[in-house]
Amino acid sequence: MQPLNDQPVTVSAPGKLFILGEHAVVYDGTCIVTAVDSRLRMTLQASTGSANPQLTITAPDVGLDGYTIPLYSVLAKQRFEGPSAFIESCVAVFHRQFTFQSGIQIETSSDFGATLGLGSSSATVAATLFGLATCFGISLSPGTLFQLGLEAIRQVQRLGSGADLAAAVYGGIVFYRNREPRQVTTLETDQLPLLVIYSGAKAGTVSYVQQVRALHERWPEPVDSIIQAMLQIVAAGWQALLAGDYPALGQLMNMQHGLLHALGVDTPALASIVFAARQLGALGAKLSGAGGGDCAIALVAPSQYAAMKEALQAEGRHVLDIQVN
Ligand code: PMV
Repeated sequence: MQPLNDQPVTVSAPGKLFILGEHAVVYDGTCIVTAVDSRLRMTLQASTGSANPQLTITAPDVGLDGYTIPLYSVLAKQRFEGPSAFIESCVAVFHRQFTFQSGIQIETSSDFGATLGLGSSSATVAATLFGLATCFGISLSPGTLFQLGLEAIRQVQRLGSGADLAAAVYGGIVFYRNREPRQVTTLETDQLPLLVIYSGAKAGTVSYVQQVRALHERWPEPVDSIIQAMLQIVAAGWQALLAGDYPALGQLMNMQHGLLHALGVDTPALASIVFAARQLGALGAKLSGAGGGDCAIALVAPSQYAAMKEALQAEGRHVLDIQVN
């Protein structure tokens, strides 16, 4: 396969936030995840003519500045590790599907850093695969893009529901079912009045997924009950979203936070944000994602949005400039 030409191609993919169902979704469950208006941007350039084509990556967010590796070394890898892992894994997956011999230069920049837990890896995967397809003039359906992306993610980390990738590929607010037949239902709205507050600490998703797995192995029945309750909350939360019933959604978010706390993934910093937001009048507040750090989200009445943001900032909270999209 040959690139269409040697012109650079620019693509982007959104970050994400978990609204409900994190951790439960890992156990063949469901969740609600939303794309946000902060994006990862990527420029890709394919070049032909070299006997030993190279992959070159400049990605300041993960500390890569002109990192270069022969394409053949990427393709021969059994394990993908380090800051280049997700891009290299995508290149290998894409090559398995659509063999090519070109050098590839990739540069990324993002509205959000890799430390906020906003899904920089899944956005990187979606952008790399979509960008490669664009360079080679291949039209990938969202379903195929998602499948290839999941393969690329699983080559790097065995765990992971793929929900964050669904948000990056499909956009909008996504109801995601992590079992066959996989279901991705999107709700296009820019209405959800969420405030996103950074806890000040970066969390390692994989270690928290493993921690919950260990708890599940030790206490299968109570942990299964927690997961079942989370799945009921996801189902009710989707109905609340469809109906635009924010007070109901807020209550469900509060319950999900309590269950995440029960799974041991809450932290004093996250809990402090959650209680502060509730005290200031949020309809609901919870940690978002695997826990251990990253961000908390607060759902607020649309009329209260600006005042709540100011009140949280006045308390010294790190409110991010991010909207649901
Ligand atoms: O920490 P985040 O934002 O990457 O979210 C992880 C969510 C989990 O459900 C715990 C894991 C997953 O793969 O869905």
